[in-house]
Amino acid sequence: MDLHIGRSLSTAEIASLLTEARTRTFLLVGTLSDAELRRLHDPLMSPIVWDLGHIAHFEEVWLRENIQNGDTGSEGLSGIYDPFENSRSKRAELPLLSFPECRAYLSTVRRAVLDALPELPAAGGTPLLADSFVFRMVLQHEYQHNETILQTLQLKHDDAYQPHRRVVAPAPDPDAPGIERMVRFPGGRVILGTDDRSIAYDNERPAHGVDVASFWIDAHPVTNAEYAAFMEADGYADRINWSDAGWAWKKEAGLEAPKYWERTTGEWTERFMDRVEALHPARPVCHVCYHEADAYARWAGTRLPTEVEWETAAAWKAGTDEPQVYPWGDGPPTASHANLDALLFETTPVGCYPEGRSPLGCWDMLGNVWEWTSTDFHPYPGYETFPYPEYSEVFFGDEYKVLRGGSWATRFGAVRNTFRNWDYPIRRQIFSGFRCAKNG
Ligand SMILES: [Fe+2]
Repeated sequence: MDLHIGRSLSTAEIASLLTEARTRTFLLVGTLSDAELRRLHDPLMSPIVWDLGHIAHFEEVWLRENIQNGDTGSEGLSGIYDPFENSRSKRAELPLLSFPECRAYLSTVRRAVLDALPELPAAGGTPLLADSFVFRMVLQHEYQHNETILQTLQLKHDDAYQPHRRVVAPAPDPDAPGIERMVRFPGGRVILGTDDRSIAYDNERPAHGVDVASFWIDAHPVTNAEYAAFMEADGYADRINWSDAGWAWKKEAGLEAPKYWERTTGEWTERFMDRVEALHPARPVCHVCYHEADAYARWAGTRLPTEVEWETAAAWKAGTDEPQVYPWGDGPPTASHANLDALLFETTPVGCYPEGRSPLGCWDMLGNVWEWTSTDFHPYPGYETFPYPEYSEVFFGDEYKVLRGGSWATRFGAVRNTFRNWDYPIRRQIFSGFRCAKNG
């Protein structure tokens, strides 16, 4: 799937991308009963029918209202599907549309959008329409809610979610070059962020130069085997590994292992949706919070990378000032670059994607697991809100840590080297792991 970043999309490309996104959304939820779609599976998440109604509402607000006027009969739904009016834990109590009603709302909005496409001014016209930004924004929104829905499905307490279709992971390439433990950035000026206006969110802009001291960074995310060694060394119990906030949270939440790890007969297992598997030593550890990642890094004599270091490891290429859009270059992601696109339904052992390595020599920078960084979520110098403050601006501050790189549950079009995600440092329902860094 190619989103043709940096240029306007034709109406045929827009229609095809919108249709593909919707097909995927229904593929993910198609095996669920109405009751499963309506239930609050966890207070951290919305009922899945809320996500579906919200996808339609977002598309209606940003596309229908920007490209044409027309009545889709949805007056009154803003109060239900505006995420800032209703916290996730309260959404199950709202008069939500049923699944059939959601489907009808989604298709009514979509029909209005597709009918209006041929009338679009060719050159854009407004900042939202220029370079087809608003279409990629709506597409990314649906992709991002696909990942949110997958978090909900992984949390599901009752019958485990059974995917309708899953693809098979590539086997690690036996001829692939060996993976070094850490690789070194020699220090220098790098460009962080982007000036792209065709897909990048406001928080990724503007591109700006940063002087970065030399550092070492893990060539691959920390694996289950490495994390298990930390646990066996009493890493959770040893106060010295934990920050004050991390220690307090570890005790309050009773953290003893990554979420979804279980030890029933002496051996640890890891659950991915409906599959419970023996812990694969070479898979990246997944579903750890920032505090666990930070504790591991301290135990290992390292630290978490800053987001500047992370982006440097993904995008910097010696001999050029132009950062790469993806670790492998500027070409769009494919199934041979990274464990992305949400159809594997699990992480893959590090070493499966030699084509996806960054010039510095880092594997799995995109896909597999989101990676915690040590950086709080703040705007870049020169940041300007576009097109609405509720995407980034209202979240800036010290409360959130930045995560980078996407996970197996992230669709191709929803991640790139400059993409910034953020969450509370205690969160573990996200498909989150980490890699370590150190000075030098
Ligand atoms: Fe949303």
